[in-house]
Amino acid sequence: MKLQDHDFLRRYPTPFYCYDLPLLRDTLQVINKEIEGYPFVVHYAVKANGNPVILNEVRKAGLGVDLVSGNEIKAALAAGFEPGQMAYAGVGKADWEIETGLENGIGCFNVESEEELEVINDIAARMGRTAQVALRVNPDIDAHTHSYITTGTAANKFGIGLASLDEVVDKAWHMPNVHLLGLHFHLGSQITDMGPFELLCVKTNELLRHFEDKDISFEMIDVGGGLGVDYDNPQANPIAKFREFFEVFKHGLELRPGQVVHFELGRSIVAQCGALISKVLFVKETPTKRFVILDAGMSDLLRPALYGSHHKIVNLTSCEMETLVYDVVGPICESSDVFGRDERLPVTRRGDLVALLSAGAYGESMSSTYNMRSLPSSHFME
Ligand code: LLP
Repeated sequence: MKLQDHDFLRRYPTPFYCYDLPLLRDTLQVINKEIEGYPFVVHYAVKANGNPVILNEVRKAGLGVDLVSGNEIKAALAAGFEPGQMAYAGVGKADWEIETGLENGIGCFNVESEEELEVINDIAARMGRTAQVALRVNPDIDAHTHSYITTGTAANKFGIGLASLDEVVDKAWHMPNVHLLGLHFHLGSQITDMGPFELLCVKTNELLRHFEDKDISFEMIDVGGGLGVDYDNPQANPIAKFREFFEVFKHGLELRPGQVVHFELGRSIVAQCGALISKVLFVKETPTKRFVILDAGMSDLLRPALYGSHHKIVNLTSCEMETLVYDVVGPICESSDVFGRDERLPVTRRGDLVALLSAGAYGESMSSTYNMRSLPSSHFME
């Protein structure tokens, strides 16, 4: 991400999210190039970043959307996505959210339990509609990512376990107000090793064969999202490894004629095009530590406090050659409001602008008003 334009960055009150739209467009272009000629459809996971300007870019690139709430359905409609391009997932869909999806004729409900399937069928019957559904399978594959963002193991709340899958597929297949499109998987997030995706292909092929033996075939397979990004070297690797990722599925899945594969990518599309820009409020020295206190905190970017994750920290405006070691913290009344410990930065002073990189995904979308702070604003580099 290019952050050299200090005039641009100084123009706005901090903290704010700064998005590099050319990088986002390049990323979307790479995705479209990699899937060209394959029956692959990419849905952007709006939970990663629902900013309307971002949604507009994603729509212009022709991607669909993966949604997890009624309000995300509304945001996607407002951004101009076609209902047929929408998949709606989530373990807890409220009746009004299901109704919103049905009213608008969304492309697919990703169903997470037998009870949810029954409720969707009932609501669809009452509304005189047919719900297109995919059943989310919990494939029991460990993605070896952070325990808070791994989803595909038997210990997670997500999906239908393999033991009860036959029964639920059979049920969905025969329901009057449900049309079963296929199966849905999602292993977890920030997966950088392709191994788990390879295992997912093996598991998917097994299941396709298993159901074909029962005369059940699927039009669609949704393999979820989860491709990781390089948080350590974002400038060197601004675009995720889409080629490697799609290759796994191009070679690994034994698709039947007419079958379509859906992907739900969030982080890999938007993480690197966003940075949280903050100003240094104070530099405080104690007998053992030197703190840089920013005007951005965990209310603006929760990931470090919640997952212990690290975003690369750059002092954008210091001209010092000398470096010092700092703990970089936010202003919030919580000890976990820390962005980095023992960070080596050029000598840093009050008023310097600091960027937290790779913050485009799960940054702005997870921000809150904790401590009655204002939500961070957003600005866009063209
Ligand atoms: N599909 C489903 C069913 C999901 O649950 C998720 C993310 C995605 C797709 C998109 O995954 P991605 O491609 O972005 O990895 N807040 C956490 C990440 C939570 C991910 C939740 N599910 C973080 O900041 O690391």
